[in-house]
Amino acid sequence: MHNVDIDLVEMSLDVIKFAIGRISDTDPQLGFPKTAAELKSLVGETITPAGIGGEKAFELFREVLIKASIPIDHPRHLAFVPASPTRSAVLFDLVTSAASVHGAFWLEGAGCIFAENQAMEWLVSLTGMPPPAFGVFTSGGTEANLSAMVAAREYWRSVDPAKANSRGIVITSNGAHSSIKAMAKVIDADVLMIETDDRLDGELLDAAIGKMSPADRGRIFAVIATAGTTNSGIIDDLQGIAEVCSKHKLWFHVDAAYGGAAMAVRSVRPLFNGIERADSVTIDPHKWLFSPYDCGAVLYRDPALAKSAHSQEGSYLDIFSDEGYQGFNPSDYQIQLTRRVRGLPLWFSLAMHGTDRYEKAISRGIELAQIAGRMIEETEHTELVREPNLSCVLYRRKGWSPEDYRDWTFRNHKAGFALVAPTKWRNPKGVETVSRFCFINPDTTEQDIADILESMK
Ligand SMILES: Cc1ncc(COP(=O)(O)O)c(C=O)c1O
Repeated sequence: MHNVDIDLVEMSLDVIKFAIGRISDTDPQLGFPKTAAELKSLVGETITPAGIGGEKAFELFREVLIKASIPIDHPRHLAFVPASPTRSAVLFDLVTSAASVHGAFWLEGAGCIFAENQAMEWLVSLTGMPPPAFGVFTSGGTEANLSAMVAAREYWRSVDPAKANSRGIVITSNGAHSSIKAMAKVIDADVLMIETDDRLDGELLDAAIGKMSPADRGRIFAVIATAGTTNSGIIDDLQGIAEVCSKHKLWFHVDAAYGGAAMAVRSVRPLFNGIERADSVTIDPHKWLFSPYDCGAVLYRDPALAKSAHSQEGSYLDIFSDEGYQGFNPSDYQIQLTRRVRGLPLWFSLAMHGTDRYEKAISRGIELAQIAGRMIEETEHTELVREPNLSCVLYRRKGWSPEDYRDWTFRNHKAGFALVAPTKWRNPKGVETVSRFCFINPDTTEQDIADILESMK
């Protein structure tokens, strides 16, 4: 095996041709999963002592494997939180891999980290957090939330060393993303979940804290608000929550993994007021900022607090803080050490297109949600469950059972037409299964929405 050989050069033409073809394809085939047994029978054993050769491996990828995977940017993929990386960001993702840069330390990645940091400055400016607020790109929202929670917990313990062995409590609401509960498990913290059918506000939070015993109150190390809930796009009352956090001296984290991009849209920015008072914020460029996977971000009001929680020590690492190599080390601000410079595709795309184009593309998602809302109300067999929030729309097909929604999702997906998944929504009568759109891809059309609603007839 050589770093460069003739086969590789020939094969790379095929690979690049495929990559260019794929990013130029605005309506790719909507793949459908096969079972592992089916895939094994189609692909066979690919890892062998002698290797099967690049041509064969790539053929299997192109003809079998990719067809059993879903292109997340399909214009009628409106389930979960889809994505829609820009062509320039995808191309630059290839460049980022080819450049082979270690992104943990300034010593190794100075130029690339500098570029990442320019993109980060723009993210910080969207929040309005004052200097020295800054952040770092992570593998996603889950890692960003975990990194922020660790920083919060360590800060809480540093203020009162008696808490060194206390189990902390984080307060959030039932609108929070599943990663909050999961990451609390990772750091062995308890979660106090405030139940609400709408946004979490300062009053609800203050009342919940008021009901806790003084001992438990002393165990709270963070409050986590959501700015754009995954299920329905609701933005918590960040202003009111900031007020309560400041009154009780609690770390205020805002999970804006999905919704945070909308801060770039001037007309909706006021919905996020209060985020500038956060101690930490999660924003995922791989959701609504058109970055390829995987790219999240965590921002800190006081990066020094994150650094004291996260920076790793070891004699083999001493050189990284030596005078001649000093600079911003991304590994100091989140849980990962070795990392790719995953903010680079975002940087390139932002630099190329400018932030105005981003504002326009993000606002199209909000506009599509408003359009879908109107179409749902005008369609005989559908109705809105609630007004659209950000780019999320919850709606019902009148008279459908949970099984009807499930079968419809399956039918549309299997036919390669659309992927729109059901979710649950709690109303005064109980928990109801409903349908949900989440718009990210600006190439989704009104006709796509009309066709999907028609398929529910
Ligand atoms: C609000 C919110 N937070 C966190 C996450 C987790 O992000 P990731 O999947 O990038 O880890 C998501 C994912 O949908 C989310 O919507």
